[in-house]
Amino acid sequence: MHTLLLLHSLLRWVILLLLLAAIVQSYSGMSSGRSFSSGDRKLGLFLMIAAHTTLLLGLVLWVFGAFGLSFALDNGMGVVMKNAVMRYWVVEHFAGMLIAVALITVGRGVAKKRIPDPAKFKRAFWLFLIALIIILATVPWPFRAGVGRPWI
Ligand code: HEM
Repeated sequence: MHTLLLLHSLLRWVILLLLLAAIVQSYSGMSSGRSFSSGDRKLGLFLMIAAHTTLLLGLVLWVFGAFGLSFALDNGMGVVMKNAVMRYWVVEHFAGMLIAVALITVGRGVAKKRIPDPAKFKRAFWLFLIALIIILATVPWPFRAGVGRPWI
């Protein structure tokens, strides 16, 4: 369980780095008019693999660990929703990250669409940017009251 948490935690940095790179690449693609390359495709693929692995690890931690389902089973959802810390782990982190990973998945799928390359870059850019904002808002950063966790 400890190893899974460490991996889940470390992968956040991989996701953030790849997501930033993908945003910069999509933006440069949008503004330069260059064509969608195999590099763009690969970056999107690695980003999606990192995101899905983190999601899977998160699901295991949420179901079998002490910071997820067990809060709801032990206390009931009524109590969970009134407690900021339990609500964060049972609902907010889960839902926020699920949405972010879905956006990354759709953003990566853009590569396979039969649309002009500038449209691919534009769609991917916005999907990845919104995913980044949601992830930044939903990670239990050390400075967050009550739910803060270490940087690594
Ligand atoms: C891109 C997606 C995600 C990122 C970047 C992310 C990030 C993090 C980080 C940084 C931590 C703190 C790790 C630590 O204490 O060292 C954490 C903990 C946790 N995450 Fe996620 N997470 C993601 C998705 C999810 C999802 C989808 C779920 C649930 C289905 C989830 C469930 C959990 C749980 C239960 C913990 C606490 C585990 C414990 O302490 O026992 N995460 N997450």
